[in-house]
Amino acid sequence: MSDDSRLSDPAVRLEEKELEVSLRPRTFGEFIGQEGVREQLAIFIEAAQARREALDHVLLVGPPGLGKTTLAGIIAGEMGVSIRTTSGPALERKGDIAAILTNLEEGDILFIDEIHRLGRAMEEVLYPAMEDYQLDIIIGQGPSARTIRLDVPPFTLVGATTRTGLITTPLRDRFGVTHRLDYYNTKELSRIAARSASIFEVEAEDDGLAEIAGRARGTPRVCNRLLKRVRDYAQVKGDGRITCGLARSALGLLEVDEAGLDKVDRELLKLIIEKFDGGPVGLGTLAVAVGEERDTVEDVYEPYLLKCGLLKRTPRGRVATRLAYEHLGVEAPGGDVSKLF
Ligand SMILES: Nc1ncnc2c1ncn2[C@@H]1O[C@H](COP(=O)(O)OP(=O)(O)O)[C@@H](O)[C@H]1O
Ligand SMILES: [Mg+2]
Repeated sequence: MSDDSRLSDPAVRLEEKELEVSLRPRTFGEFIGQEGVREQLAIFIEAAQARREALDHVLLVGPPGLGKTTLAGIIAGEMGVSIRTTSGPALERKGDIAAILTNLEEGDILFIDEIHRLGRAMEEVLYPAMEDYQLDIIIGQGPSARTIRLDVPPFTLVGATTRTGLITTPLRDRFGVTHRLDYYNTKELSRIAARSASIFEVEAEDDGLAEIAGRARGTPRVCNRLLKRVRDYAQVKGDGRITCGLARSALGLLEVDEAGLDKVDRELLKLIIEKFDGGPVGLGTLAVAVGEERDTVEDVYEPYLLKCGLLKRTPRGRVATRLAYEHLGVEAPGGDVSKLF
């Protein structure tokens, strides 16, 4: 898949890492939107600080690009502690977790991204650590093996995952709080775009930023990426200033439509409509048809299409809604309307 067709892919790209760091809000004050999550977290943090205790373990859930990693950093910053970042797939041996945990300072944050990809055996090492700040380590092998118990400093585990259903119940139960991040509205994304534009030191008109925000798939990461591309376009085709007209032409060129759908989104809907008569079609079949991983379709494409009302989930599979036909300018079949909804 070419780079451009994945413009709306909310997953972080390698060359973007640096950009992300410079744009990442560092305090709750800089973090735009998600008011409920922010307020609750601020209260928990204040209470934990007053009691001089580590914050309860926090699970952050939401599609890629909505601010999970950012929030983990903000929590550490507001608590005034250090953060150690790792990810589910990176933790392969029990010793890895043990080494990280025993090196934490009291109150520190351990951030485990993609915690749903943590192996079962790794999870089991975490349980006593999360509950009692203890670690059971087996020394030796066979009949002479024995378990020793190690203390770990009181710490806070912040886990991030795209869907709660992906993590096991015992792990989920050990988090004190779970916060779900929602897609951002256009107003919030406009503010995010304005903040990023000022960090980039690029001049932008409000309706130019609104145009970008409206097509950002409800996702700050996508919003920043589009802003960057529009900035390039404005520099070459205009005088560098992001106007509404320039934003529109740039986004048109990038094939991001007015609903924020990119080529892959449209391809996906088109497939359901044209190849599978509007559905229902199973997720696995759909993933193969668009040449994407099943997880990517489920975590990245589907949630936004569902949110826009373009796609529906039924027990028998995914169905394109009447809105999807309208959006693509395809005439919906008459007669069997029940099939559409
Ligand atoms: N609420 C927000 N306000 C401003 N910028 C945000 C916000 N949430 C995310 N971002 C921006 O979007 C980018 C992606 O956020 P990130 O925390 O990495 O998402 P996730 O970890 O959920 O995939 C960050 O670099 C940051 O610049
Ligand atoms: Mg992240």
